[in-house]
Amino acid sequence: MADAIFQKAEETKQKILDTEVTTAEQLEAFRIQYLGTKNQIKPLFAEMRNIPNERKKEYGQLLNDVKQTAEQKFDSLKAAVAGDVTQQTVADIDMTAPPGELMVGSRHPVSIVMNRIINIFTKIGFTVAEDREIEDDWHNFTAMNTPEDHPARDMQDTFYLKDSTTHLLRTHTSSVQARVMTSQKPPIRIIAPGRVYRNETISARSHCQFHQVEGLYVDEKVSFADMKQTLDYFAREMYGPETKIRLRPSFFPFTEPSAEMDVWMGTKTEEAKKLTKGTGWLEVLGCGIVDPNVLENCNIDSDKYSGFAFGIGIERSAMQKYGISDIRMIFENDIRFISQFRSEI
Ligand code: PHE
Repeated sequence: MADAIFQKAEETKQKILDTEVTTAEQLEAFRIQYLGTKNQIKPLFAEMRNIPNERKKEYGQLLNDVKQTAEQKFDSLKAAVAGDVTQQTVADIDMTAPPGELMVGSRHPVSIVMNRIINIFTKIGFTVAEDREIEDDWHNFTAMNTPEDHPARDMQDTFYLKDSTTHLLRTHTSSVQARVMTSQKPPIRIIAPGRVYRNETISARSHCQFHQVEGLYVDEKVSFADMKQTLDYFAREMYGPETKIRLRPSFFPFTEPSAEMDVWMGTKTEEAKKLTKGTGWLEVLGCGIVDPNVLENCNIDSDKYSGFAFGIGIERSAMQKYGISDIRMIFENDIRFISQFRSEI
């Protein structure tokens, strides 16, 4: 009697091992047969009472083995059927069908303008230098010849870190000038793109964060004429070969003399008039001859070396180029806004 029961269990195990399925329906039938609530292994457990005590342990182990075999077999059959399904789908693919639409990302308008500027300057030998946004006041102000009592250092204008009087969010990329000049020897020819912060009230025209590209050129005998030539080249590359520029005297603590560069937009269109407040000239950047104090602060011999520097605001260019009327849109990351922009770079 016991032997017959043992044999039945062994046969069930063998049947499980021999099962082959090719379809999902057959797989489901296997599951019901061996793993379902009314499976065929269950009655074998009921036979336990007909097994003599000394063989109960052996029988129990055999049934566990049958059960495990069924579970493992189910897993491998399932994997095989899944593989089959995939193959079938591949065979069903219509290779002549037109492709579905691909989601292609787009660059942010700020990145587009920034990359464009970087390209223009790398073509004439400038290399990109990037540095930190959290700065100390030495690199942001002191090295840049900005006196202790300068209003720009005021809490009203600068974001200082919590409980700090020395660490701040950089207010301009000019801090990278100090970083580069204290770590490299002339000749220096860098552009530094990046984000800057000022404690401004947010409106359609101004924001507490924006982007600049800084330029710095330090070598022997660098003159104002070199600067003007370089900026003229930049303006023609950026705004078209016929572009006219003008340099207006200005003031920055770190350059002497200093200037602001305007680009001629004309007064013919309503848009140009609005953009230039009726003057026809669009202000694009600040620039100047590096103040000898700045060179000395950074341990560069100001008798031997001179240089020029400039800082280009990105948002204004982007707004002008793409007709964006509110600077806040640039920072909201609304996909409906950003996905409108396309670029090659
Ligand atoms: N750092 C100045 C600004 O933020 C721009 C500038 C850079 C001016 C370099 C002169 C030289 O407005």
